[in-house]
Amino acid sequence: MRNFIWLLLALPLAAGAQKLPPETIKDKMQWFQDAKLGIFIHWGIYSVNGVDESWSFHNKKLSYKDYMAQLKGFTAANYDPQAWADLIKSTGARYAVITTKHHDGVALWDTKYSDLNVVKATPAKKDVLKPFYDALRKDGIKCGAYFSLLDWSQPDYPGFLKDSSRYDINKDYERWNRYRHFFQGQITEVMERYNPDLVWFDGDWEQSAEGWEAERVRSIIQQHNPKTIINGRLQGYGDYETPEQNIPVSRPAYPWWEMCYTSNNNWGYHPDDTAFKTPGEIISVFADVISNGGNLLLDIGPRADGTIPKEETNLLTELGHWTHKHAEAIFNTIPGVPQGHFFGPSTLSRDSTTLYLFLPAHTYGQVEVKGLSSGIRDIRVVGTNQKLTDKIVGKISWSAVPGLVFVDVPQTALDKYMTVLALDLDGPVRLYRGHGGL
Ligand code: GLC
Repeated sequence: MRNFIWLLLALPLAAGAQKLPPETIKDKMQWFQDAKLGIFIHWGIYSVNGVDESWSFHNKKLSYKDYMAQLKGFTAANYDPQAWADLIKSTGARYAVITTKHHDGVALWDTKYSDLNVVKATPAKKDVLKPFYDALRKDGIKCGAYFSLLDWSQPDYPGFLKDSSRYDINKDYERWNRYRHFFQGQITEVMERYNPDLVWFDGDWEQSAEGWEAERVRSIIQQHNPKTIINGRLQGYGDYETPEQNIPVSRPAYPWWEMCYTSNNNWGYHPDDTAFKTPGEIISVFADVISNGGNLLLDIGPRADGTIPKEETNLLTELGHWTHKHAEAIFNTIPGVPQGHFFGPSTLSRDSTTLYLFLPAHTYGQVEVKGLSSGIRDIRVVGTNQKLTDKIVGKISWSAVPGLVFVDVPQTALDKYMTVLALDLDGPVRLYRGHGGL
């Protein structure tokens, strides 16, 4: 049945931008598909002055010299990697992705390929990645490594400021090859040192698949660990799609996708950006994402001393309370019923015998489901002992058209953020999508 639902959901969709046939990677993608929630961490020297990560010098908001002066302020003095991991665990997230190196080229480990790293060039003087990955693993959370393919600081990389280029790669292959040796060497280091469960590339847009040697980059990772998942920013050689800051309006084509999303409007620590999303907004987005078969990768930006702003800890904590209460409707579920059956997000238990309805905007009263041919055995308010009743309207005995289901939701059933109903069905979900008649 599960395969049937899978097919039903995937078939009407066009092929995604990734080149790999989904069947070839299905097994290794299982944990990712079940994970639903990941936490993204943008940590780098940009947090010292709270400027845009890397882009601030590239876009000439400040000089390269001033940007790099932040190296002196990256202390990690109050960095508590176990506390980070524990906070992440409390959200219910199953994986975390941290920036090992952003576009500014500052590595968070002591790479042998460059002195531009936090061990050699900042007062932190230590590899800040290893203790974090150790803490995550201790908490049973999968480890992700963000890595920028482009490196605007590396002298052999052509790109630098937005309107200047160091050279043309078509005219100086030797120099470009030196850069390829450099960045591929760093990827090998990341794999050898941390063996991440997921590599999250970024910046692929500046070169072609041939330019990056994307196939080779993929094989470097796979040779080290064939199970490592690769995000969709490797010019077609990744494993899943990454719609950035964008909640797709309809279910995306490729079977695996992840929406990366900021807590406010910036990836890194940015004290002048106070546009934080509320827990209710994030929960509503999260429900929408999982309803359509995706994962939410929610970003936070710690300060240079390693502390996490209170707006973000609050957001994660509240999210965690909600995900724990509603765990059965979130984790290990499959995407819900197609749009149109219910005016809100939904998921299904793996065997598709329980339909979870996420009630938007504190809806109560008579909540409607249409085109549900399955019989309903029980209706529960998830995370509570409350049971609800329903009324079937307009079921004509001789017709295949199911009646409308109206579930009576009293105001007392409402969750602080988003209420979830569980409809236990008489078997795997059966839907009616016809146009009436006999
Ligand atoms: C964009 C930005 C980058 C950010 C990333 C996260 O690609 O270039 O700054 O780290 O999105 O998804």
